[in-house]
Amino acid sequence: MKVLRTVKELTEFSRELRAQGKTIGLVPTMGALHSGHLSLVKRARGENDAVVVSVFVNPTQFNNPDDLSTYPRTERADASLLEGEQVDVMFAPSVQEIYPSGGDEGHTFNLGYVAEVMEGAMRPGHFQGVAQIVSKLLRLTVPHRAYFGEKDFQQIAVIRRMVLTENIDVEIVSCPIMREADGLALSSRNVRLTAEQRKVAPGIHKVLAESVADFNSKPIQETCDWVVKQINALPFCKVEYFSIVDGVTLKPVTAREDASHIVGCITVYCGDVRLIDNICYRK
Ligand code: PAF
Repeated sequence: MKVLRTVKELTEFSRELRAQGKTIGLVPTMGALHSGHLSLVKRARGENDAVVVSVFVNPTQFNNPDDLSTYPRTERADASLLEGEQVDVMFAPSVQEIYPSGGDEGHTFNLGYVAEVMEGAMRPGHFQGVAQIVSKLLRLTVPHRAYFGEKDFQQIAVIRRMVLTENIDVEIVSCPIMREADGLALSSRNVRLTAEQRKVAPGIHKVLAESVADFNSKPIQETCDWVVKQINALPFCKVEYFSIVDGVTLKPVTAREDASHIVGCITVYCGDVRLIDNICYRK
């Protein structure tokens, strides 16, 4: 596996492969890799001639400086995991390499409604930062396919919108959430949970999964209120938002007949660790 640090090295690598008619799969990450990331890498490995994994903690998508400074950084361990998955390139640039003129580049992405609600409302500027880095990675790598995990359900909708409005020719592949055996969605932030919080956190998925059973027999608002009440009753847990939305437009769904794809998206503070998850009610 090659470890590339510069834009020039990455573009040369990509140009060479494209000239040979090879397909490229890109897996953008912020490192601190776990089996959730590796499931994306395996999928990319199976579907492309070459796989590029970017490892870059993107400062422009953090609206909270503490979150940025405490974000886990484990580059050496990441490299050895990627080596084990026969990845061709790990792209691990510096902040200066990606943002030579600083992060504020004066370009605002037209992300529309999908970026305004839920995470967009709670984390101002977050999706502009995600769009900024993902568009750069796509333009530099020129992949045929790019892989994203469904834990960040809204992020995928935002990236699809960005790719459309920026006319980037790439297939966005969304991959299922990976969970621990007890149901907790895999996340790089899980390592920040205390032992006590870690025991409680799987309750989030348990409540969401239970809410699926009566979804068709209750008004949507009742499901919503029940989920919030159950999760708030767990020790350390405080729901920031829970929204039941159309899986494509992310508009709130108030009646089951209104959408054919319905997803419940949640963010919960477990102590000071912000956990996100979602559940599919209908597809
Ligand atoms: O999902 C993430 O880890 C990040 O938001 C991404 C897509 C790698 C962009 O920095």
